Amino acid sequence: MNAIFERRAVREYTDQKVDDEKIKKLIEAFQAAPCALHQTDVMELSVITDPELLQKLEEKTNNSCYNAPLVFMINTKKDSQFGERDASVAAENVMVEAFDLGLASVYVMGGVIALNKFPDLQKELGMDDGFETAVLLPIGYAADNGQPEDRSNRYKVVRK
Ligand SMILES: Cc1cc2nc3c(=O)[nH]c(=O)nc-3n(C[C@H](O)[C@H](O)[C@H](O)COP(=O)(O)O)c2cc1C
Repeated sequence: MNAIFERRAVREYTDQKVDDEKIKKLIEAFQAAPCALHQTDVMELSVITDPELLQKLEEKTNNSCYNAPLVFMINTKKDSQFGERDASVAAENVMVEAFDLGLASVYVMGGVIALNKFPDLQKELGMDDGFETAVLLPIGYAADNGQPEDRSNRYKVVRK
């Protein structure tokens, strides 16, 4: 499981597009995520590669997707007690799979708060009524040479 340990947040991407085979794999990773109580109607995914739509997304979210060539917009039903949790576990699945495919990504919440103020754009991006965006995942090829930081002691862990 090197992908778990070697994945890191990337905020600078090259212009190289992500090919369709890889996008399909990322969608499979999204679909394979844990799902609370099998409530499959509380979460949806928009996969955005259209340059004009990506540009609009960047404009409305203060460039929160870092000009990545691919964005997964994970939307959840408003007032669902599971939505954000489902979205987060699905996002991690996608980020780990992305790393395995030689891609980079970052979990974005800041842009979500901005984007949820633009329902017309969300509708144009494929979101259904009654939903809101929970996570944005810019994905692409890393343009920096960064290394993951040492995360071995990030959190307090108690063993008893
Ligand atoms: C709930 C959550 C919200 C986050 N929101 C943002 C964000 O809005 N913008 C951003 O660039 N990164 C965001 N991140 C990514 C974190 O900054 C990143 O995971 C953290 O710096 C640790 O780095 P690592 O992922 O390389 O371990 C978010 C991560 C989480 C889990």
